[in-house]
Order: sequence, then C-alpha cells, then structure tokens
Amino acid sequence: MHFLRRHPVPADEITPESVYRRRRELLKLLGLGAAGLAAGCGAAPAPETAAEEAPAGRPLPIARRTDYARGEAETRYRDASHYNNYYEFGTGKGDAAANGARFRPRPWSVDIAGHAEITGRFALEDLVKPDALEERVYRMRCVEGWSMVIPWVGVPLGEVLRRFRPTSRAKFVAFTSVARPDEMPGLHYPILDWPYREGLRIDEAMHPLTLLAVGMYGHELPTQNGAPLRLVVPWKYGFKGIKAIVRIEFVETQPRTTWNVAAPEEYGFYANVNPEVDHPRWSQRTERRIAGSGLALFGNRIATLPFNGYAEQVAPLYAGMDLRRDF
Ligand code: MTE
Repeated sequence: MHFLRRHPVPADEITPESVYRRRRELLKLLGLGAAGLAAGCGAAPAPETAAEEAPAGRPLPIARRTDYARGEAETRYRDASHYNNYYEFGTGKGDAAANGARFRPRPWSVDIAGHAEITGRFALEDLVKPDALEERVYRMRCVEGWSMVIPWVGVPLGEVLRRFRPTSRAKFVAFTSVARPDEMPGLHYPILDWPYREGLRIDEAMHPLTLLAVGMYGHELPTQNGAPLRLVVPWKYGFKGIKAIVRIEFVETQPRTTWNVAAPEEYGFYANVNPEVDHPRWSQRTERRIAGSGLALFGNRIATLPFNGYAEQVAPLYAGMDLRRDF
C-alpha cells in the first residue's frame, strides 16, 4: 500500500510468495521450467500436504454457520494465513507469518471508552462469549486488487457495542491496535503512524454484517490474521479490518485512521469497495481471486462488485452521499 508507492510494479502483478512457491512445485511436478510457465501451462491443483492446511489455533465452538459468499470457493487456510498485510510485523506478505512467534495474544483486554454509559477495561472472554460465536463466510477485497473468501468466526460488532449503551453523542467508533515493539518488529520502522487506527460511522459499526472476529477456519485467529480480536467489514477494503484491537472508543467526530492519514488522496475514510472509483495508481474494476485451486494458482481475474457484492444490504447506509468524493 503506502510502501508500494515507491514500487514500480502495480500491486496486482506481484505474485504472492505462497502462490509462487506452489507454482514452482507444480512446475517441478510437471517437469517444466520457467519456459513452461511462460507458455501458460495448465490449471492443475497444487500439491499440498494436509499438515500445511491445518489451522494452528484451538478449535472454536460454532453455534451457526452462514455463507455470505454465494458458495464461491473458499481460499485455502494456507494462503489466507501466509499472504497478509500486517505492517507491525513487516511490509512483506509473508512477514507476519514469519515474525509473529514472540507475539502473545493472551491474556487480552480491551478498553471501552468515550460516549457510552458503561466504559472501562474488559477481558476478551467477557467481551466475546464463546457460546455466541458464529461462522460467516465473507469475500474480502484488498485495495491492492486481490481478494479471498474466508470463513471467519466471531460475533456481530453491534451486539457487543450495544451492551455498553452508547449515548446520542456517539457518532463514530474509533479502534486502536496494540503496539508492542518487543513482540512486533515492524514497529521499529516509522512506516506508518503507530499504533494502527481505524474507524467506522456508528451505523456502519452497528450494521449486522460487521463482525468482531476471534477466529477463522473454525479455529482461533493466528497472530498474522489479527489474533486475538479483529474487525471484519466485508463491504469495505481490507485495510478497514483492524487487527489486534485493544481500544474501542465512541467518539463524536470522524476519527483519524492510519491509511487515510498516510495517503489521503489514495485511501479514504469510508473505503467502500467501488469498481467505479479507481485508485490513483490502478483500476479497481477487477480483482485477482486467491481461492480454491486450479486456475486460482495463476490468479483468477474477476469483476469487482459494488460494495464487494453486499450492496443490497449496505447501500442504503450511503443514500444521498457522493461516493466519489467520500471514497
Ligand atoms: N491491522 C493492523 N493492525 N496492521 C496492519 O498493517 N493491515 C490491514 C488490515 N488490518 C493491517 C491491519 C490491511 S491493509 C489488510 S488488507 C488486512 O488487514 C489484511 O488482513 P489479512 O492479513 O488477515 O488478510
């Protein structure tokens, strides 16, 4: 993202490390070298061991499961957990998976602050009760031009927030990530204005699709995907999905958010997925789907949908707004 501003290759054309490695394996298997790839060799599934696919965290109880991705093929756990953006651990896609060993996601607590009747510090277990967990399969579209389909486990954010009884002055919700330089090596570099921050308008935060996630693929979140607690807003670009949340504050004015502060002309506060509004350096009309096997190995290019395909549910939130200006 910001880092890519100095990169001559459009974000979209950079091959994810995991895909690249599997491509190499596949070529070896087929007895082909790079020449075979250039000629566009076939779409065979990549060889992969069961061990590589298994999520590492503890399994979670799931009360119900809903597919909000119309049955589209899920991204493999291996790809979803090794092709990450998490700059606190480094700017490379594999850095968070490689550099997370020191990070301690438990015990964990979250500060609830601002315009609400109930505020204070709450243990994660009191915030998100295990018996309320549901699985939701959502599409995830990154502003860089790639997408995944991920089964998240969590609870609707609105149900959690309502328990604190926000007052009428709570117009927005501001989120802050943890910042522990001893455990997160990327924090030693002033790439972003740490800690990572995000925000939603209160009606977006209360929308039933907005999820506070504690797991994926039926298990606790791995560090690289935002353990132990992250936001998932499926109709917005992935950077709104703040990881490792330690503070939630009800505020009256639109909060400052990390990427918007870093490059306001490139990353808006709303960040609704919108094929009609290009990023200043690339088109947002299509995306490379990292999912399933076969064709996806080479990047399955598909059309990007308004609001990432969730327009029916969320477009009314933006009635009357100019989404080119408020992008
Ligand atoms: N949260 C924090 N704290 N730090 C980050 O660098 N990256 C964001 C978002 N949340 C980021 C973050 C971006 S740019 C994206 S696309 C998603 O996390 C990626 O989530 P994933 O790695 O689980 O796919």
